Amino acid sequence: MKQRRALRKPINDDSVERVAPKRPYVLVTDAGHENPPFKRLDQPTGFLMDRISIRGGKILNGSIQISGAKNAALPLMIASLLTAKTLILRNVPRLADVNLLLRILRNHGVDMMVEGKRAKQDESVGETIHLSARSIVDTTAPYELVSRMRASFWVLGPLLARCSEAKVSLPGGCAIGTRPVDLHLMALEQLGANIEIEGGYVVARAPKGLRGNRIVFPKVSVGATHNALMASTLARGETIIENAAREPEISDVAECLNKMGARVSGIGSSTLQIQGVEELGGADHMVLADRIETGTYAMAAAITGGDVLLKGARADHLDAMLLALRQAGVKVEADGSGLRISRNGNRLYPINIDTLPYPGFPTDLQAQLMALMTMADGVSTIRETIFENRFMHVQELARLGADIALAGDTAHVRGVDKLMGAQVMATDLRASVSLVIAGLAAEGETVLHRVYHLDRGFETLEAKLQACGASVERLTAG
Ligand code: UD1
Repeated sequence: MKQRRALRKPINDDSVERVAPKRPYVLVTDAGHENPPFKRLDQPTGFLMDRISIRGGKILNGSIQISGAKNAALPLMIASLLTAKTLILRNVPRLADVNLLLRILRNHGVDMMVEGKRAKQDESVGETIHLSARSIVDTTAPYELVSRMRASFWVLGPLLARCSEAKVSLPGGCAIGTRPVDLHLMALEQLGANIEIEGGYVVARAPKGLRGNRIVFPKVSVGATHNALMASTLARGETIIENAAREPEISDVAECLNKMGARVSGIGSSTLQIQGVEELGGADHMVLADRIETGTYAMAAAITGGDVLLKGARADHLDAMLLALRQAGVKVEADGSGLRISRNGNRLYPINIDTLPYPGFPTDLQAQLMALMTMADGVSTIRETIFENRFMHVQELARLGADIALAGDTAHVRGVDKLMGAQVMATDLRASVSLVIAGLAAEGETVLHRVYHLDRGFETLEAKLQACGASVERLTAG
């Protein structure tokens, strides 16, 4: 247990080294050739030093196609480790995190093939990826790869369930506070795994296989729920997961697992029941629309006083965010094709929000909401209850003229009449996009540095904003 305490060290994901592998890599597909659609993560010139320039003051008008959800695509890809058959995932967003996870899966022996673009296929449709883990050739997920992206730690449960052993480096991820993995380990121990921490690695063994059990999470964790859910599909007997996270991305994974032959019920609730099966098969699954990307563009439209249709957005996954927008005076209309966000020129009203697990207001939209509230008529209160260090955007928003006072876990945002463009620094994925939102409303030019944070989670951000009239441009280094 002494070693467990060491897991509570803060994780800093901000180093350039983590994002830039030293040597070029080549993504080899089933067919054994390099796959051009994937960006190399490691080109020393270019994206690491890229900046985004925004000339604010343009009103956004038009439509934006919402991409597949990063936070569903990643665990869905990991679920491919549970079966020797092929898992076909559609609408996978083209993101640095997806590319990195493909590298990690390939290291375990997963064959992958990316379908070419079909004639007349809409540019905005994500990729279709075939993943086949016919045999797992390596059950170790090394530090060099896992430390760059926290979600890759979730390979632990599936590898353990399929191969009875796994060795996975302790994770990295956004620098948004202490992010322990005790709940993941507790859940796998409940399923009968023996777990040791050795040299920065979690070494998990279950020589006789996993067995179903009752897992009661003391705290809601998205990642620990994914890990426990995936592992228990192949455990002997029944598993009940209580106080499970209820995020739509978890339901999406559970539905895909059922298509693969798993027996998961209670999907969407905080109690999941899983009847273990001997083996899982293949499936064909479409990644659900990204609710965080949806919320982000909704706030971008709102701050500029524009009128934007978010095509393919799922309003039913965004109740808390849409309520907040309506309270702020933004018009929200949902129809079959998506969500229309507009504002009629009035000032925004201030609002008070606590971030909470789903269906509460998502922590992944906290920074974007704060950017929006910098222009409200009065003082908004935003309390961050999920991560303790998720206010790094505050000092950058202040550089644009925002008036924000921090008191512990709460930010008091006093709306200002105008923001002014400046040089700002991205610090993590969602924080960086909050600076884009503020930059869209600021007078003059805002230049965002460390754009690689954005590339982890937002597909073709500049193109999507440009299509609605924003003046946004990537300044490519070297
Ligand atoms: C996932 C999301 C991330 C989102 C977060 C919360 C993905 C790829 N990432 O991250 O975008 O911000 O959910 O909605 O889907 N905790 C523990 N022990 C653990 C695990 C977590 O104490 O073993 C704590 C964390 O420190 C945090 C809280 O639980 O305070 C929630 O974290 P969790 O839901 O696990 O976040 P992630 O799965 O890492």
